[in-house]
Amino acid sequence: MITAYDEPTARYADAAGVDLLLVGDSLANVVLGHDDALRVSVADMVHHTAAVAAATPSAMIVADMPWLSYHGTPAAAVANAGALIRAGAQAVKLEGGANRSEVIRAILNAEIPVVGHLGLTPQSVLAMGGFKVQAKTSDAADQLVAEALILQELGVCAIVIEGVPAAVGTRVTEALDIPTIGIGAGADTDGQVLVLHDILGLTKRTPPKFVRRYADVGALITQAVAAYADDVKSGAFPSASETYPTPETFGH
Ligand code: KIV
Repeated sequence: MITAYDEPTARYADAAGVDLLLVGDSLANVVLGHDDALRVSVADMVHHTAAVAAATPSAMIVADMPWLSYHGTPAAAVANAGALIRAGAQAVKLEGGANRSEVIRAILNAEIPVVGHLGLTPQSVLAMGGFKVQAKTSDAADQLVAEALILQELGVCAIVIEGVPAAVGTRVTEALDIPTIGIGAGADTDGQVLVLHDILGLTKRTPPKFVRRYADVGALITQAVAAYADDVKSGAFPSASETYPTPETFGH
C-alpha cells in the first residue's frame, strides 16, 4: 500500500503494481503543507479521492476518514463514509479500536468496507502529546492486541498498525486472521504502507525513522524548472519546433 492524492500520483503508483492506494489524511502534511492531519475536512478528502479515482487504478482505493468525520453520530459517520465511496473509494480507513465500535458497525452495515488503524494514530496527536511510538509496555501491547481483535470481530477487512515496536507488529499479525499493514511496525506485518511523498523525497519535514527514500524527485523538479528558467532567459525556449508557425495570410 502506498498513498496517493491526485490523478498523476495515483496513475504512476498504480503502474508500479501496488495492491492498495491510500488517499491518506497525510494529504494535510505532504500536499497542503500543514503540521498535522487535523486540518483536512471531508470535502478535502472527497476532492482528492475523486482525483485518485480519475486515474482508474487497478489497485483498490482506500480513503481516510478525516478527524471529526466519525466522532459524532453513527448516521453522520455513514454519510461521510458514503461521500468518500461516491467519490471513488472502495473502502474507508478510520483510527481507533473499541471506542469506535458503534460507528464501525454502522459503516459496515451500510455495506462499506472498513480498514482499521491502531498504534500511533496521527489524528490523536494532541491527546498523545506528539507523534510517539506506542505500545512500549507489555500492558499497552496486550491492549493493542485486544483492540485489534475487537476490530476483527467487528468485521474490518484489514488493520494498519503504525509506530509500534516490531515485536508488537508481529504479535498483532499473529493474533489476527485479517491482514495487517504496517508503517513503522517492523517487518512481520502482512503488508507495508508508506507515504508516497516521503519515499520520493518531496517532503519538507525530516521523514520518520521507518521511511526509506527511494528517489529524490524534489531535486529533479528543481533541476528541471531551473533548466526551463535558464532556457527562457537565454531565449533557447521556445524553439521553432515548439512554436505555431505564422499563417502565410498574415503577410509580413
Ligand atoms: O494518512 C496516511 O498517510 C496514513 C498512513 C501513513 C497510514 O494514514
